[in-house]
Amino acid sequence: MAHPQKIIIDTDPGQDDAVAILLALASPEDIEVLGITCVAGNVPLALTQKNARIVCELAGRPDMKVFAGCDAPLQRRLVTAEHVHGKTGLDGPVMQDPVMPLAQGHAVDFIIETLRREPEGSVTLVPIGPLTNIAAVFLKAPDVVARVGRIVLMGGAYFEVGNITPAAEFNIYVDPEAAQIVFRSGVPLVVMPLDVTHKALTTAARVQAFRDMGTEVGRMVAEWTDFFERFDMEKYGSQGAPLHDPCTIAWLIRPDLFSGRDINVEIETKGEFTIGMTVADWWRVSGRATNALFIRDIDADGFYGLLNERLARL
Ligand code: RIB
Ligand code: CA
Repeated sequence: MAHPQKIIIDTDPGQDDAVAILLALASPEDIEVLGITCVAGNVPLALTQKNARIVCELAGRPDMKVFAGCDAPLQRRLVTAEHVHGKTGLDGPVMQDPVMPLAQGHAVDFIIETLRREPEGSVTLVPIGPLTNIAAVFLKAPDVVARVGRIVLMGGAYFEVGNITPAAEFNIYVDPEAAQIVFRSGVPLVVMPLDVTHKALTTAARVQAFRDMGTEVGRMVAEWTDFFERFDMEKYGSQGAPLHDPCTIAWLIRPDLFSGRDINVEIETKGEFTIGMTVADWWRVSGRATNALFIRDIDADGFYGLLNERLARL
């Protein structure tokens, strides 16, 4: 892949979203962030667009264009996750309100205009929240679908099963109709499901390594993690929390840290108990066309080594 890769991050910060944004902004030789678009998800839009600006300022990037997008799913009422991320969505450390302004215009229009301007296939979309904005782009401007180079998203689960219902992962569950549009769009997909993110846990040693950076970023990431991990540790009895969203950015920088399989993945939008489930045909029994690289494994030490090396730059 040509370097640096041009990306748009679509996000619902969220402590793990924040780490993904920091990793991207700390890696200019690999990643050029054309803009950050915010969506309602972990917390309402008013907070996700504020949190994204807080993170950009923390990264020393008050110049970054941050757009507000959709404040609710395409058809359903919004489900949020304050129980995981806290009331602000970035609970843990005390944070100042952002000074940098929100960019003018709707996130959906920014994505459409960017895809029409940049060379065909040169832009990667990195959605790490519900897929409402991305689906809205495809519905409003079908001509841009073919211009998307690739979508690298955090969402879904198969062998690991769901985290918001027994069957569904949160990002897909919040807007399953949007997810179905994205998964059936024909755009090349790289999917980072819970199957892989649950193998990238914030163990005590890894959190201490963030603290030991001795930087404001290292301290913030450690305090976000301390807050964010309590939900998963109580629920799964795990040794830390999965750092879900940064797996997308890490894949763009070091795809060799990951492995998966090209398969068909469909989204359940009608099941009584399975709404939002990513039906991943891992054993290729359905005969349905391949539409996604479904990632299942990660070199967790390599992932945290990359995170530490890059975040220490900020
Ligand atoms: O299920 C995990 C996903 O939901 C992550 O993107 C997290 O930030 C939340 O949005
Ligand atoms: Ca997220």
